[in-house]
Amino acid sequence: MERLQKILAQAGVASRRKCEELILAGKVQVNGETVTVLGTKADPATDTITVNGKNIGAEQKLYLLFNKPKGVITSASDPQGRKIVTDYLKGIKERVYPVGRLDYDTEGLLLLTNDGEFAHLLTHPKHHVPKTYLATVMGVPHGNDLDKLKQGIMLEDGMTAPAEVEYHDVNPDNKQAVISITIHEGRNRQVRRMFEAIGHPVIRLKRIAFGKLYLGTMKRGVYRHLTKSEVESLRQSAAAARKNDQP
Ligand code: URA
Repeated sequence: MERLQKILAQAGVASRRKCEELILAGKVQVNGETVTVLGTKADPATDTITVNGKNIGAEQKLYLLFNKPKGVITSASDPQGRKIVTDYLKGIKERVYPVGRLDYDTEGLLLLTNDGEFAHLLTHPKHHVPKTYLATVMGVPHGNDLDKLKQGIMLEDGMTAPAEVEYHDVNPDNKQAVISITIHEGRNRQVRRMFEAIGHPVIRLKRIAFGKLYLGTMKRGVYRHLTKSEVESLRQSAAAARKNDQP
């Protein structure tokens, strides 16, 4: 037995907070009875749970790995009519949504799912699942500058947590360098702001790993389903990161 709001969130209905609102608004029924008490428990395996009359058990859980091209917005809709990630998910009928965000101009590994609990686990600020990026930057940063990024650097919203930073490639004319950076947070435009802070603005940004999951050689604009063990490994990354965080 689980709390109803947790079951609904896990089924991808909405965030847990939104699910609580749905319960309070009388939109949720368990075995035909409307439930408005938060914390009511149910068993998703045996109870029939509906939201606005729709059976929530009917939707299969999907976990997708997508290679987002730049110039695509990480959002379910865009009033300005720009391309959105779900435009690329031909053949997926389920309503999946992105796990966290990549900027419009950032490319690379993006997870999408209809499993709200999974998305919450991976994006929760306390869980710090490591994310690795290749940043092509203007000029070649000095080792001392990369040390600053490794130790943590002051941004307008506070110090960044320690990061792993390495030279990946240096352009022969020394006008650009590609740096690999692994961060354990997910602040807005964080990698771009970190490199700006050391005077080497990002020209191109690509996410290549999320936890132990790598983008590999997937083509841009293409998606694939994650395997069961990849989903499990991501869950474990979040759990391990949370444990490390405890004093
Ligand atoms: N950091 C950024 O600056 N942009 C992203 O899209 C992701 C991380």
